[in-house]
Amino acid sequence: MKVALGLFSAILAANLYLAASQTIPPPLAVTCPYPVDLVFLIDSSESFRTSGFEDAKTFVQSVVNYFTLGENDTRVGVVTYSNRDAQDTHVKLNENYTRVELLTEIRNIIYDRGHTFTGLGLDHVRNNSFLEINGRRNNTLDFLIVLTDDESEDDIVRPAQLIRQMGITVFVVGVGEEADIKQATLETIAGTPNRVFRLSDHDFLTDDEHPKSIRESICNGEY
Ligand SMILES: *[C@@H]1O[C@H](CO)[C@@H](O)[C@H](O)[C@H]1NC(C)=O
Ligand SMILES: *[C@@H]1O[C@H](CO)[C@@H](O)[C@H](O)[C@H]1NC(C)=O
Ligand SMILES: *[C@@H]1O[C@H](CO)[C@@H](O)[C@H](O)[C@H]1NC(C)=O
Ligand SMILES: *[C@@H]1O[C@H](CO)[C@@H](O)[C@H](O)[C@H]1NC(C)=O
Repeated sequence: MKVALGLFSAILAANLYLAASQTIPPPLAVTCPYPVDLVFLIDSSESFRTSGFEDAKTFVQSVVNYFTLGENDTRVGVVTYSNRDAQDTHVKLNENYTRVELLTEIRNIIYDRGHTFTGLGLDHVRNNSFLEINGRRNNTLDFLIVLTDDESEDDIVRPAQLIRQMGITVFVVGVGEEADIKQATLETIAGTPNRVFRLSDHDFLTDDEHPKSIRESICNGEY
């Protein structure tokens, strides 16, 4: 019985290790040379579908993996949004500082389904994410990365303007064709075409190309 139990725990441990190594990317040798405050606003609406939302989390993990994470290094916040009453902060800038803890927390985010109220998502970020009490620092650059695949059901012009007026640099990753989400909408959120990235399909969220480009923009100060 004892032997069987031991074997069982060994198998369980091996499986857990395997599960963790499959969902958490390995550390990289080269990360961003300076710390930033980096918040993600992720569309958790119906159009993503379960597998697309998993890919979106992989995308976020790939981007954060390009930074040295920590209380005194890069801090990361994560917010999802869908329905009118659904804007959820999953990670504040002053939580889950370490790499494995943060990557685990991102992987554990549950998919909402629902509508696409991007304006309210942006308002939630402005009201909550970039506050000093929630971990924003006054001596680091602030970045917001919005990930969406659909036109918003509410106004985004004003919420996007207000966020940028707080000194936050906004990047947008749009998933889909022009018919799904217009280039003009993405540019309105980001404030410039230079900070718009488009992927024609959710499958491409798992590629490293765009996380790398975002990292280069942020870390080389090209935005
Ligand atoms: C971060 O810096 C503060 C202030 O210097 C210090 O108290 C804290 O221990 C540092 N945290 C880590 C993880 O090094
Ligand atoms: C992330 O931080 C929260 C708040 O401190 C904590 O409850 C949670 O357990 C942390 N997540 C992980 C994976 O450690
Ligand atoms: C943001 O704050 C404003 C002003 O307090 C409030 O009217 C609005 O409902 C808040 N929006 C969200 C999405 O938190
Ligand atoms: C910047 O943040 C530090 C640490 O929270 C605080 O002590 C300091 O007063 C802040 N400075 C300004 C100009 O707000």
